Amino acid sequence: MQHRTAVSTVVSALCGALALALPAQAASARQAGHIIVFGHRGASAYAPENTLDSVQRAADLGVDWVENDVQRTRDGALVVIHDTTLARTTNVEQRYPDRAPWSVGSFSLAEIKQLDAGSWFGPDFRGERIPTLQEYLDLLDDTGQGLLLELKQPELYPGIERQTLDVLGRADWLDRPHLARRLIVQSFSAPALRTTHRLRPEVRTGFLGNPPVSQLKQYAAFTDEINAEQHSVTAAYVKAVHGMKGAHSKAMRINTWTVDNAPAATKLVRMGVDGIITDRPDLIESATRRHT
Ligand code: G3P
Ligand code: CA
Repeated sequence: MQHRTAVSTVVSALCGALALALPAQAASARQAGHIIVFGHRGASAYAPENTLDSVQRAADLGVDWVENDVQRTRDGALVVIHDTTLARTTNVEQRYPDRAPWSVGSFSLAEIKQLDAGSWFGPDFRGERIPTLQEYLDLLDDTGQGLLLELKQPELYPGIERQTLDVLGRADWLDRPHLARRLIVQSFSAPALRTTHRLRPEVRTGFLGNPPVSQLKQYAAFTDEINAEQHSVTAAYVKAVHGMKGAHSKAMRINTWTVDNAPAATKLVRMGVDGIITDRPDLIESATRRHT
């Protein structure tokens, strides 16, 4: 938290207080017909992925949307972490050497909260914790950012769709303003998105992948966006996606990941994508600004 405050102060001085103080206004300006830039796992080139520091770093850079990954602990808490094991992004192997393979779902929240989720990235981030989804939403309430929430391997966590919607609802993230401008639920799992759409049809959803054009209509029944890996995207595919009406009867959108260099972003913008998911949102913001 101290690190977040320090980063915030420095960047604020560099960028000017106004841009930082008005995230909601900045969001609407950027989204008015422009490419949306999503900070992948926060601003994960600059801070440990999926931590609150990473979200704050993205906010400090003026990034309006962040992407995360949601899973569940053994005792039923929703936490934000990408891998299904704790090994790569925490010190779990040192702390619990006998518990390989260190699956997220085999640890309690209290145990997970003991872990250092920052030192692997750099010494400045020592002591950073894996956030709960609730803690993550609380920070977004402060920054005003939108959330591209990924249900990560939902087949490991039966019922996680309903549970996630419950947490979002209790945090007031299913009200009209959030539904219209600040929330998209995505997954590689079509069944999880179908379930999400069935439970709360008003929530925007995105399918991670690139279904063949011939199958887009089936996906359009429960999803609004196709979020495709960058190398699978062509201008023809973008056109085909835009030609479909999604689950909310609007033209389907297409976002692409994980794009961390300006020439690739520029090429994708020229193909017509609606959004870019990136570890380097500042770089991609500036590259796409020149082309919109
Ligand atoms: O948002 C797109 C991206 O997050 C999907 O891949 O593995 O980074 O979760 P992954
Ligand atoms: Ca993800």
